[in-house]
Order: sequence, then structure tokens, then C-alpha cells
Amino acid sequence: NEEQTALFTIFGATGDLAQRKLYPSLFRLFRKGFIKEHFAVIGTARREWSDDYYREIVTTSINSLKPTEEEAKAFASHFYYQSHDVTDTTHYTNLKNLADKLDAEYNLEGNRLFYLAMAPNFFGTIVNHLSSEKIMTENGFNRLVIEKPFGTSYETAAELNEQIRAVFSEDQIFRIDHYLGKEMIQNISAVRFGNNIFESLWNNRYIDNIQVTLAEDLGVEERGGYYDKSGALKDMIQNHILQVVALLAMEAPNNFTEKEIREEKIKALNAVKIYNEQEALDNFVRGQYVANRFKNEDIISYVDEPNVNPESRTETFVAGKLEINNFRWKGVPFYIRTGKQLSTKAARINIVFKATPTNIFSQEDICEKLPQNILTIYIQPTEGFSLSLNGKEPGPGFEIDPVKLDFRTPTDVVANSPEAYEKLILDALQGDATNFTHWDEVSQSWRIVDVIRQAWDNDSQPIPTYPAGTMGPAEAFDLLAKDQHEWVYKPDEWYREHGL
Ligand code: BG6
Repeated sequence: NEEQTALFTIFGATGDLAQRKLYPSLFRLFRKGFIKEHFAVIGTARREWSDDYYREIVTTSINSLKPTEEEAKAFASHFYYQSHDVTDTTHYTNLKNLADKLDAEYNLEGNRLFYLAMAPNFFGTIVNHLSSEKIMTENGFNRLVIEKPFGTSYETAAELNEQIRAVFSEDQIFRIDHYLGKEMIQNISAVRFGNNIFESLWNNRYIDNIQVTLAEDLGVEERGGYYDKSGALKDMIQNHILQVVALLAMEAPNNFTEKEIREEKIKALNAVKIYNEQEALDNFVRGQYVANRFKNEDIISYVDEPNVNPESRTETFVAGKLEINNFRWKGVPFYIRTGKQLSTKAARINIVFKATPTNIFSQEDICEKLPQNILTIYIQPTEGFSLSLNGKEPGPGFEIDPVKLDFRTPTDVVANSPEAYEKLILDALQGDATNFTHWDEVSQSWRIVDVIRQAWDNDSQPIPTYPAGTMGPAEAFDLLAKDQHEWVYKPDEWYREHGL
């Protein structure tokens, strides 16, 4: 593994994200030798911490990876802390001095990766100072990694983008969507473009509908304050789900390169129909969880969660139908859904193929359709694929019996798994932005969801509810039933059957 050389400057170094994801990911890279001697990390935030205390925090954050004492010590020794008020110019002078000193000490060749792991209010101020106070270098690379949310609407995202673009060019900006670091999300392209049996059927002549489910079995935990302002539409659909849709829908890139993949993803997103408000209400449903007893546990209602407005109308569930108006997809609904406090934690994609034209095995006059072939891509908690096929039930007679070719491996279900971050940080270090989102993708995604948000904001109907531990409100099932379809993945039935 080739050693990468860089100075990381992490804004928001005392925060939850840094501790839960960044430090463990950096440690994994350290362990594998991708970062070794020629790297240093400056952590900055408001709090007054010493280097020693910061190193203790970093060491604690990698505990679960069971480092030896020596390993942990060696790793943590690369970390430096600088207390920082982002609006105070003199602090940037301190930052620059420390950066230049570490650059010389660790021989970092002027390579700088700035990581904004904090609320976006001050992104503009920070990047301006990085430039005006000459914290960016002339001799190495300068890259900016930005966490979501990238804006809260098209307008705010555009404003934020303008501020950042005043200093960094698009190819220096790495907008993180951690779903793009997940193994099976990257595998979508392998399945599609590496298997002729699928790619030749990957269109509206053979595919009936596509379903994307990103289900979570936890509530909003300690993030009520953020979530209540965001809701599931902005938290999951605008970014993760639309990225998955783009990968499923895009045309084959000429080559599997960053630029060409991006171009195809942007084209796919541009073909997603932007609804008017009435269409948004017809094609999207929302829900909010209410108290329920599930798996022998009492789960509280969303509105009773800490830091959530007791009158909140924020959605914790969204299901919707997207239309992609291009030659390949016209007429194929893309059903998407995501939510908190559902019956299970699972992310999967079901590609439902059209039924055979007739069922020649049926003895009935009214011929019942054969079960449809379904290709399922499992993203988490297991990773892999399955393909359901129809075969003959063994024995006398001729009954058709669907069977499943199932290839799956279990993965650790860690929320926002650090492996995804590890891959993405390495990509950023190596300057590969394939698995990051380009402004054109982000902006189009906002255009798609803004009108849905607007339609809901203007809709005075009470928000539909669902008992915690189910797969969302009845409206989410009606949405597909209207089209004579149904959700392939029905974990709640399983739980009901087992009396949970
Ligand atoms: C984040 C959302 O982007 O993704 C969280 O802000 C959500 O609300 C998380 O829980 C889900 O990620 P994962 O990797 O656990 O599926």
C-alpha cells in the first residue's frame, strides 16, 4: 500500500463525527500503511484542548479497533490540537504557523486536506481565510472535504457552493456521501456493466419496476435538534437515495473513470422528472413514528424524542415514486423509501423484471401470472446478490416453484460504517473524486426534492403516522398498490408472524 503524504486539518475535531468516524478511519489507513510517517493531523474547534488531551480522545476513539499500546501511541503522536474561533483572523495565523511547522517536520510536501466536519454556517468564512491567510500551499495539493448537509435547499446549496468555489475549484472539492463508499453501492456498477445477462435486460422492455429501501431501526437518537429541521427527505433522499438511483439508472460510461461516470450520473439525474406540487403529493408520502411496543421494548413517539418540537410535523419516513423520462426508463417506476424506527435495519435494491408474457403452465382459464424474476442487491446488513428464478417443484405434477440463487456475506452493521469513510478518505488523499458528489449532481438533487418539501409545507393535512417497528404508514403501501405493484421487501410481515 503506497504511503500518502498529507497534512489533515479537521474543523470540528471535537465533534461526534470526528470521533466516531474520522479517527477510526484514519487509524485503519495507518494500520494498512496508507498513512505512515509523512502525515500529521491538526484538529481544530472552539474548545480549549491540549495536544495531550486531544491525543487521549483520539486514542479512545480507536479503542474498538483494538490497537496495541504501541500502535495507538505512534498513531496519536501525529495529532495536534489548535483551539480556533473561525471568525477570528489571528487564529488563522496560528493555524498557518502550525501547519507550516508540521509540513517541515513531517516532510509533507505542501499537501493539504481540509476537512469540514461541522455545521455549515461558517464554511464560507473558513475557506476565505484558508486562502487569504495563505494556509493553502503553492507546492502541493489543496483539497477540501465537506460533510453533508450541503445546503438545505437548492438556493442555500447554491449559495454555499458559490462561497466555496470562490476559493476551491470543483476538482479540489470532495463532497462526501458516505453511501458511495459502501462496498455494495460501488458494486452496482460491477453487477450492471460486468454481466451481459443483466445489462442487456436493464431497461423498460424487461424491467417492471425498481425498488430502493434504506430502512433504519433506530430513532433520531441524540440528533433530534438537527433531524427535526431536516426530516427524512433531506437527510436521506436528497443525497443517498438519489445517488443510488443515479447509479442504477445511468448509461454505461465509455470508460470507468471519474469524469465519465459523473457525466452519466448527471445525465440520469437530469432525466428524473421534477414534479409540480400536486404531482409531488400524488407520488410521495411521508410519515412520522408513534409510540409502540416492538421486540419487547417500548419505543417513544418521535415528538417525545429529546430536542424535537412536541408539535413537530417533520417526517421520519418517506416513500415515493420517481419517473425517469429517458429512452431507457420511460414507464418504469423507481420506488424509494427510507425511515427511522422501522422494523429492521436494512438497505437493499430490488430489480423486478416483467412477468413472462403468458403462463403456459397454468391450467386455469384465467391464467395467473408467474412470479416475476427479481434481482436483489443487498447493501447492508448483509452484502451480496440474490436472483429469484422459477423452477419446477420436485415430484409429480407440474407446479412452478420460485427458487433463489443467493450469494451473500454478512457485514458488521455499524451505523455509517467506518469502512466507507476509510475508502473515501483514501480516495480524497489520492485525488480520486469518483465516489464524491459533483455540484451538478447535488444541485439537481435539490431541484428534485425542493418541490416535494414545498408541497408538504403547503399541505395542511395531518402527517400520516406509523407505529414504531413497522415499515411505514399505510399510504406507503397504497402508493404501490395504485400501480398494481407491491414492496418486495416485507420485513414487518416476518415480525408479525413471529409475534413481535
Ligand atoms: C446519515 C443520516 O447520512 O446516514 C443518518 O444523516 C442516517 O440519519 C445515516 O442514520 C444512515 O447511514 P448508514 O450507513 O447507517 O446506513
